[in-house]
Amino acid sequence: MLITNIKGLVGLHSKDKLVLRGGELDYLPILENAWLLIENGLIKDFGEMDSIPSHISNLASHISAEGRYIFPSWCDSHTHIVFAASREEEFAMKIQGKSYEEIAAAGGGILNSADKLQKASEDELFEGASIRLKQMILQGTGAVEIKSGYGLTTESEIKMLRVIRRLKDHFPIPIKATFLAAHAYPAEFKNNHQGYIDLIVNEMLPQIAEEKLADYIDVFCEKGFFSVEETDQVLKAGGKHGLKPKVHANQLSVSGAVEVSVQNKAISVDHLEESDEETIQTLRNADTIVTLLPSCSFYLGIPFADAKSFIKADLPVALATDYNPGSTPSGNMNFVVSLGCIKMKMFPEQAINAATLNGAAAMEISENYGSITVGKKANLFITKPMPSIAYLPYSFGEMQIETVILNGEIYNG
Ligand code: NIG
Ligand code: FE
Repeated sequence: MLITNIKGLVGLHSKDKLVLRGGELDYLPILENAWLLIENGLIKDFGEMDSIPSHISNLASHISAEGRYIFPSWCDSHTHIVFAASREEEFAMKIQGKSYEEIAAAGGGILNSADKLQKASEDELFEGASIRLKQMILQGTGAVEIKSGYGLTTESEIKMLRVIRRLKDHFPIPIKATFLAAHAYPAEFKNNHQGYIDLIVNEMLPQIAEEKLADYIDVFCEKGFFSVEETDQVLKAGGKHGLKPKVHANQLSVSGAVEVSVQNKAISVDHLEESDEETIQTLRNADTIVTLLPSCSFYLGIPFADAKSFIKADLPVALATDYNPGSTPSGNMNFVVSLGCIKMKMFPEQAINAATLNGAAAMEISENYGSITVGKKANLFITKPMPSIAYLPYSFGEMQIETVILNGEIYNG
């Protein structure tokens, strides 16, 4: 496939740039008035229209992208899209002013989702998640991580992870699976935390490892959920089975979650709506990626993470959706990028880099995804005609994507 007359080819990072730290996020290389050649699902070559070689310009399969930009697909490294039911009954409680913790205590929250998921069949869950994922792809997402964590029993956690495996087999994008049984304590373990951790460590993890159902391990490390010591136990047990951590950290309070994650060599710490100087110091000396989820802050009405301080401290910041029925009922990465700019004061270049190359890095796939680089997979989107790249986050809530290309082929859903 040949695409010509492209207004701007966005995100041309070099092959050896696998993650962007701090000030590197400012730089989003763009080639104006360009052509792009895709072959066998890969980015084969690109250049300026003025010097397009004649053997290329004569190619038959040809799209003209006049006035349009081509971006690398969004890489959404944090979602919970396998769930049985939406939770809009909590929406009214939220509007009345109830907090996330109060809603959970009143029978809403994660345990509510777990109850519904336990009753749902694998087919029903696959059906629901497929509808969500298709919609996300049409909104420009070309790689995704999906967590378990609404099962909370061995049977249901495995059911969720099998659904994720089916999604991996069915969709033409890379999908990473994360085991998140340590999401909330089931009611029967309310006063027996160690009992549930033993279940995770001695029963769930060996089966999941045996079936190779997960790539990562996650814990919701938070007051009222999993303590730092409990998190440490779960992460270490995951490590024994080769699962690296991606941790829900500092969403509602500064808890020591970042420290325990870094000690366990986490790939990413996610959320960080709450942070302090110590959090930043801990991350300075680590390779751990800081994944920020601004649509969760938007929906819950909690603070937005301090992206500017993280970038100033030379940290690698990524952006993701957190799509889930409780705190973020949206998988739209375009909106995440807009919020990154509008609410977290990231520049468009920073937000776009954070949602592409650094998102890919937070799933360990940035060698093949996350930028327009010769040899990488051709997972891209073509925008509508736009005056500049900043127009995409600026025109929040509007859809600027016209064509989605996955593995070099147009995706229509
Ligand atoms: O990332 N914080 C924990 N997990 C999800 C919310 C889960 C839920 O409310 O169902 C999150 O925000
Ligand atoms: Fe989450």
